[in-house]
Amino acid sequence: MVLAARREDRLNEAAEKIAQEFPDAPKPLALRCDVTDVDSIKALINRCEEDLGGIDIWINNAGVGVYGSNEKTSMEELRWTMDVNFFGAAQCMFEVLPLMRRQGAGLIVNVSSISALHGVPYMGVYAASKAALANLSQSLRAELCDTPIRIMIVYPGYTQTEFFEKEKNVGGGRRPDGPYASVEDVGEAIARGIERGKQDLIIPFQGKAMKLSEGLAPWIVEREMRKLARRLREG
Ligand SMILES: NC(=O)c1ccc[n+]([C@@H]2O[C@H](COP(=O)([O-])OP(=O)(O)OC[C@H]3O[C@@H](n4cnc5c(N)ncnc54)[C@H](OP(=O)(O)O)[C@@H]3O)[C@@H](O)[C@H]2O)c1
Repeated sequence: MVLAARREDRLNEAAEKIAQEFPDAPKPLALRCDVTDVDSIKALINRCEEDLGGIDIWINNAGVGVYGSNEKTSMEELRWTMDVNFFGAAQCMFEVLPLMRRQGAGLIVNVSSISALHGVPYMGVYAASKAALANLSQSLRAELCDTPIRIMIVYPGYTQTEFFEKEKNVGGGRRPDGPYASVEDVGEAIARGIERGKQDLIIPFQGKAMKLSEGLAPWIVEREMRKLARRLREG
């Protein structure tokens, strides 16, 4: 297993924790990578190939967020979100695909969000980046249908992580109080989804209900989004 992100101290901490939990498994490699930097992605892939002989599963999990009124969001904040959540994940896919083709196997897991299923008030920029990722993944998945490479899209709902400490809040709307899933539950759901060969994994019940309503009665989703916008509006 390889853990990759920008903060090496946190990566080493996580690798240590995993090694203690699973003493019989090889200790994960902790490698610095910034998904907005193509050289950094290439170096990570080369290192995986050299040290581990290839990549079976690549998980695009890096993500950042902007919360608040779309009108108050600057183009700089929009570009920052797209850079990590969409261009970063897309670049990773494009860089890892040639290796997976050479290997004759591979799974790419793209962590999107239930906000990609329908634009959610005060999360427009974030939702757009995650919808773009889901759409590109679907398109690629169809193109790869006659190859042994698979793409799985994960749509988690609110999860209790550091995400909310780091997101940029531009004001104009408050966050709903929850419910928030635990990291463990979401992680286990993703692991189970991988084992079962799922193509799409919508994790919370609200997401599944939204997907169903979007198909059967989209006006219900529109109405609920308006209610949510009014309830969370600030100022
Ligand atoms: N939390 C939620 O409610 C929720 C809901 C739906 C979907 N998601 C998605 O789930 C994924 C994981 O988020 P999380 O909730 O676990 O948030 P998190 O705790 O903030 O984790 C985000 C991870 O992305 C890494 N990262 C950020 N920018 C990066 C970059 N430029 N290059 C490489 N790594 C980068 C961070 O590490 P460094 O800062 O060290 O690089 C961190 O490990 C994200 O894609 C998020 O959009 C989260």
